[in-house]
Amino acid sequence: MDIVIANESHIKYAAIVSETISESAKVRGTGIAKRTPEYIIKRLVNGNAVIALDGDKFAGFCYIEVWGHQKFVANSGLIVHPDYRNKGLAKKIKKAIFDLSLKKFPEAKIFGITTGLAVMKMNYELGYKPVTFSELTDDPEFWKGCQTCKNFDILTRTEQKMCLCTGMLYDPAQKGKAQKKKVDGKTFQRLKSIKEQLFLKKKK
Ligand SMILES: CC(C)(COP(=O)(O)OP(=O)(O)OC[C@H]1O[C@@H](n2cnc3c(N)ncnc32)[C@H](O)[C@@H]1OP(=O)(O)O)[C@@H](O)C(=O)NCCC(=O)NCCS
Repeated sequence: MDIVIANESHIKYAAIVSETISESAKVRGTGIAKRTPEYIIKRLVNGNAVIALDGDKFAGFCYIEVWGHQKFVANSGLIVHPDYRNKGLAKKIKKAIFDLSLKKFPEAKIFGITTGLAVMKMNYELGYKPVTFSELTDDPEFWKGCQTCKNFDILTRTEQKMCLCTGMLYDPAQKGKAQKKKVDGKTFQRLKSIKEQLFLKKKK
């Protein structure tokens, strides 16, 4: 398995990246924004993405987005092809995109929003802390990215204060050290289920 910084030679994978994201959103039924092949191509060629390849087969992808005049960067769009899941690949991709973010944007706070327990665990182990949305970027372009998520109405209803996603932040100024012990997944699962009860019930 090769995990490399993406470039023009990887444009041919844009369609399968986009399709894998859409299929995963359908299966999981919640909390993944859709990304068109055109959108993915832009991320593949700007030097801010990593792609995992098994020979010439697509295995995984993640990209960096820059917000609020480089005060913040987000590691977004993490996807592992179903054929390669549960083998530790997401963890390796996450680490690669985290290291690339620190190298290219050493001053920036690194953040993400996610409903995925796997991502919460990985972020926590890299030194991210859960935070309220008010501590994340207020760049409207970032929040526009949520429009294609099926829970977008919740974000609108709460005036962008909260949603099913949890915000997580790594602040390099605080030298957030990698956690020595693993996170207790039950805590995050409980948080998610409380939010679902709160927000999804009101929807009816
Ligand atoms: C989430 C996803 C990226 C995980 O990829 P993966 O390569 O299977 O993950 P890894 O094998 O590296 O596992 C990393 C950690 O997450 C855990 N994990 C993996 N899938 C999980 C799941 N569905 N639920 C809970 N935990 C999970 C693993 O147990 C591991 O934790 P550990 O270190 O405590 O053992 C992959 O399932 C995927 O692409 N899903 C669809 C897209 C998605 O949800 N993206 C996240 C956007 S919010």
